[in-house]
Amino acid sequence: MATSQNTSDPASSTLWTPESWRARPIKQQPNYPDAEALGAVEHTLHGLPPLVSFEEVRQLKRELSHAAMGNAFLLQGGDCAESFAEFNETNVRHFFRVLIQMTIALMYGAGSPVVKVGRIAGQFAKPRSEATEKRGDEELPSYRGDMVNGMEFDPVKRVPDPTRLVDAYYQSAATLNFLRSLARSGYAGLPRVSKWNMDFVSGSPQGRHFNQIVERINDCLDFIGATGLNLDSMEELSEARFYTSHESLLLNYDACLTRRDPETGEHFVGSAHMLWIGDRTRSPDDAHVEFLRGVANPIGCKVGPSMTPEDLIRLCDILNPGNEPGRLTFIARMGATKVEQYLPPLVRLLKEEGRHVVWSCDPMHGNTIKSPNGYKTRKFTDILTEVRKFFAIHEAEGTHGSGVHFEMTGQDVTECLGGAQAISELDLSNRYHTHCDPRLNASQSLELAFLIAELMKKHA
Ligand code: PEP
Ligand code: CO
Repeated sequence: MATSQNTSDPASSTLWTPESWRARPIKQQPNYPDAEALGAVEHTLHGLPPLVSFEEVRQLKRELSHAAMGNAFLLQGGDCAESFAEFNETNVRHFFRVLIQMTIALMYGAGSPVVKVGRIAGQFAKPRSEATEKRGDEELPSYRGDMVNGMEFDPVKRVPDPTRLVDAYYQSAATLNFLRSLARSGYAGLPRVSKWNMDFVSGSPQGRHFNQIVERINDCLDFIGATGLNLDSMEELSEARFYTSHESLLLNYDACLTRRDPETGEHFVGSAHMLWIGDRTRSPDDAHVEFLRGVANPIGCKVGPSMTPEDLIRLCDILNPGNEPGRLTFIARMGATKVEQYLPPLVRLLKEEGRHVVWSCDPMHGNTIKSPNGYKTRKFTDILTEVRKFFAIHEAEGTHGSGVHFEMTGQDVTECLGGAQAISELDLSNRYHTHCDPRLNASQSLELAFLIAELMKKHA
């Protein structure tokens, strides 16, 4: 039984406007030295076209409403932080290919539609645990992502520069344009996926496993083709619906790209289809929650070990007062050793209260460690363990674990330990390219997708 929603929360009783967040406390913002330059950039952003359409955003919310009910699966992944320097055709194409390969593994194994959402085309800004970084005697502002300042430990590069917001907008536009062309041109359609050959994945056990699945799919397609149906004209087979998302951290960027749909009067953030609130900025009375409560996009919210039951319910009240399935996704990021302690009471509470949310698992951010040689890394086994426990908890509680959230790349990097390639601590230095947290490489991503498909089959 759904309890009545608490609409009298003081955090949501004030009038919302795209600017009302400015009156609230705000965390994790850059210290721009030149307020006038920031104002000029905000003015520029206000005049630029949105990157996504109202209709696409509504479509994603519909797809996520199926995930909330356990009838679809959310696959969300991409870089921890996108970079200006590593933006090129190959990297975007390889990212897209791996995400589609993961989708096929999940669809085939688990028999469930997959909602594909990239951490891409706007994922440029990072919350940091320290406001400054010290090297020797020198102390500089922390690197907060290419949308804010430069990664080099240099006093000039580390000064937050608002013109980077506009650079990020244009890179996002180009990225999204290329992703749309890949998704719509038949490139990701089932009949063509079988022709993909990813060098370092194709020789691996995951690559062979993937090829076996594709062979079986091809047999089915041949059979359907033999009946006279034209597969190329079937949108569901020849196109992939693909959506974008990022952490809504820099509110001047997202708010300046917010537009009102004249037909319905609803406001949409036009910088991505889905936005999420980070674990450090999710305080119900603060600016990030205030801004996102008033927009109609699907919203995610990270849920770490410090989340209280009271805040979880308040977040539902404020962000999803109508209890609309598909509007709110909780992304649990507890850590492999903590998830069994912290997640079950929260899942139980929302079930008892009849709240419709998508529960997704981020097995990355609670499992970050420092290797003895100084690299920030994650053990593939910890990642797998958290995913396994997440699904087991939902099965035990009689709820739906309907999504995963990863940091991954299509490149052959060596950033996370283990997997079938058995990446060791000594290997980390070979191809450690991330601008922030360590990502799964293509082979590890596919391995994980197969594991999830198995788990979903088991828990179905
Ligand atoms: C992230 O997703 O990159 C991130 C910083 O996560 P969290 O807010 O969960 O720490
Ligand atoms: Co990260």
